[in-house]
Amino acid sequence: MSILVTGGLGFIGSHTVVALVEQDFKVVIADNLSNSKKEVLHAIENITKVKIPFYQIDVADEVSLNRLFESYDFKGVIHFAGYKSVGESVTEPLKYYRNNLLSTINIANACKKYGVKKLVFSSSATVYGDNQVPFDETMPLLPTTNPYGETKTMCERILTDFVQVNKEFEVTLLRYFNPIGAHPSGEIGELPNGVPNNLMPYITQVAKGKLKELKVFGDDYPTQDGTGVRDYIHVMDLAEGHVAAFTHITPGLHVYNLGTGLGTSVLEIIHTFERINHLRIPYKVVERRLGDIASSYADVSKAKKELKWSAKRNLEDMCKDAWNFEKNLSIK
Ligand code: UFG
Repeated sequence: MSILVTGGLGFIGSHTVVALVEQDFKVVIADNLSNSKKEVLHAIENITKVKIPFYQIDVADEVSLNRLFESYDFKGVIHFAGYKSVGESVTEPLKYYRNNLLSTINIANACKKYGVKKLVFSSSATVYGDNQVPFDETMPLLPTTNPYGETKTMCERILTDFVQVNKEFEVTLLRYFNPIGAHPSGEIGELPNGVPNNLMPYITQVAKGKLKELKVFGDDYPTQDGTGVRDYIHVMDLAEGHVAAFTHITPGLHVYNLGTGLGTSVLEIIHTFERINHLRIPYKVVERRLGDIASSYADVSKAKKELKWSAKRNLEDMCKDAWNFEKNLSIK
């Protein structure tokens, strides 16, 4: 029996597929290639030496999704497929609400229709809004500052209500903090469309000379050095967190933070990246970015206790692997 991984060619999805295959799980990938590339499949197969069935389908299209569920006896689903650009979600809210909500509803419906009981959903630390750090799973969710964040909160709500009346289902919501880095082979990593919005891909493109300098969004936050603080987690740790979540899943609804529990500032990231890779990253401090919060980091005790999982790789590993991927980038 296979696990269906939707969005399995995306940044987090592709690393999770590798982690699953390494633990001898059979995987089927569904991805519409809207923000990923077919070459990623070959890269995954190069790393794992396993042929992985791939279907180019849109999970928001119920007919093709159901056809896929009919052809396999899935043991579970890990649902990554979704739009994720915060800025684009502000300018195109309907596109975000339609795609992210519909995909999740279709997946839950298909799971019910075809008796697939295990479902892991890609959520985000953004659902905590501007709560007091560290964020823990018992905190009330606060409004986010953009439609992307709202889709994550709404999908969590949809799945929570679904499990409430379908008690035999096993649903886990994973709230990711800030995944960066890449597989150490350098074969897969983050492939942003156009100019990156996120910090690490911006840094690696500055390092490569594709971009001139990094803009640091504000140095007047109430943090250690005034720049924004985030909980950066190596994408392979995050991927292994999914394997742990899938393995430990039991009936009912479960929520876990996947982070390291450490808060790192923008300047600390820049300096670690420079030191570990022997490079200079030119930067200048500009205005705060609209919608950013000062600090976001996780209380990771629940995942540690219940999933027996915690992040193993440090900031140096993240900076080294992110640069190793960008430096050798063959996927265009
Ligand atoms: N930053 C810069 N310059 C840049 C990009 C980012 O200074 O060019 C700063 C931001 O202000 C922030 C930090 O770097 O302080 C991290 O920013 P990212 O854009 O990399 O990440 P965010 O924390 O804003 O958002 C990420 C994901 C969202 C997710 C959120 C969850 O992109 O999808 O984490 O907390 F919702």
